[in-house]
Amino acid sequence: MIELKNVYKTYTRKGISIEALKEINLKVEKGDIFGVIGYSGAGKSTLIRLVNYLERPTKGQVFVDGHDLGKYSVKELRAAKKNIGMIFQHFNLLESKKVYDNVAIPLILLKKNKDEIRQRVLELLEFVGLADKAGSYPSELSGGQKQRVGIARALASNPSILLCDEATSALDPQTTRSILQLLKKINAEYNITVMIITHEMSVIQEICNKVAVMEQGRIIEQGSVLEVFGHPQHPTTQNFVKTVIQNSITDSVQKSIKREPGSGIYKLEFIGQCASEPILYKMIRSYDVQVNILFANMTEIEETTLGKVIVQLKGETAEVDKALSFIKSSGVGVEEVEKHDVNYSYN
Ligand SMILES: Nc1ncnc2c1ncn2[C@@H]1O[C@H](COP(=O)(O)OP(=O)(O)OP(=O)(O)O)[C@@H](O)[C@H]1O
Ligand SMILES: [Mg+2]
Repeated sequence: MIELKNVYKTYTRKGISIEALKEINLKVEKGDIFGVIGYSGAGKSTLIRLVNYLERPTKGQVFVDGHDLGKYSVKELRAAKKNIGMIFQHFNLLESKKVYDNVAIPLILLKKNKDEIRQRVLELLEFVGLADKAGSYPSELSGGQKQRVGIARALASNPSILLCDEATSALDPQTTRSILQLLKKINAEYNITVMIITHEMSVIQEICNKVAVMEQGRIIEQGSVLEVFGHPQHPTTQNFVKTVIQNSITDSVQKSIKREPGSGIYKLEFIGQCASEPILYKMIRSYDVQVNILFANMTEIEETTLGKVIVQLKGETAEVDKALSFIKSSGVGVEEVEKHDVNYSYN
């Protein structure tokens, strides 16, 4: 659907070059809600602007629906752009035009007749929950309502792709949620592929199925949201994930841990089905091991439960090893934080 192949983008200003994008390879499949996250200046906006050809790559290719945008004529490009809607952080509405006219603009440009325009605009305003605001001016709307107008306008030409550049960054958390829910509905009901740029991991967690993490113009990690949230590899990704999933022992618990002989500390990760099974209970029943839970957190990602538990296990080495093998074989990820004594036994 959208594919970037070995894309580079260099801006040159007054003899100084800025490499905004380097070696970008990514694939967005039809129906994805694809998130791109990164700190300020990482190159996110540049990347999304390549997809609708507001910017051209310095090197590499951008494909939409299998077509290389670089090979299109001006006319073909104009037609292709109709297929891509975009919404922005600051909404970009025409303040002097009423809500109705703001949504109608793309349809007027497409030279639709008045009746068609009226029908489509009213349908879209109904869809975004603003049927009663057609006659209002943007200055009379809240931020969330303005973004709904932006969304209605972006959908006017029936695009199959919706690009969102920090679309919720100017909104409070509750309004952010309602806009994200609306994007989810657009994706599900209209089967529109959504690409979202954000610096907030909670946005990715809430609606995306895939994510790419950017730093200094490069994609440093990408994959399904469950994969990346479950096993972040790069330190920057780990920092982003930490903002939504806590995964470490609090200071006060840390201080109170008794590091006795025969005890070790382990991080356990439960994903999906195994998060709802009594695995720890079975382990305690089957092996002579004491379990002290130091930290536990359950999160829902892509409708899958992700559980992170940190435990201190105490017992004879052989018994602890057997207990760990049992939980591993039950599908739980095990990471050793503090090693158990080798060959510890009660005698
Ligand atoms: N038109 C331009 N001319 C020159 N440099 C630019 C231009 N647009 C972006 N840049 C530079 O490219 C780099 C990436 O910018 P970009 O806007 O893509 O980052 P971003 O990840 O969207 O950041 P933010 O989160 O702040 O919006 C920055 O160093 C920026 O200064
Ligand atoms: Mg940006």
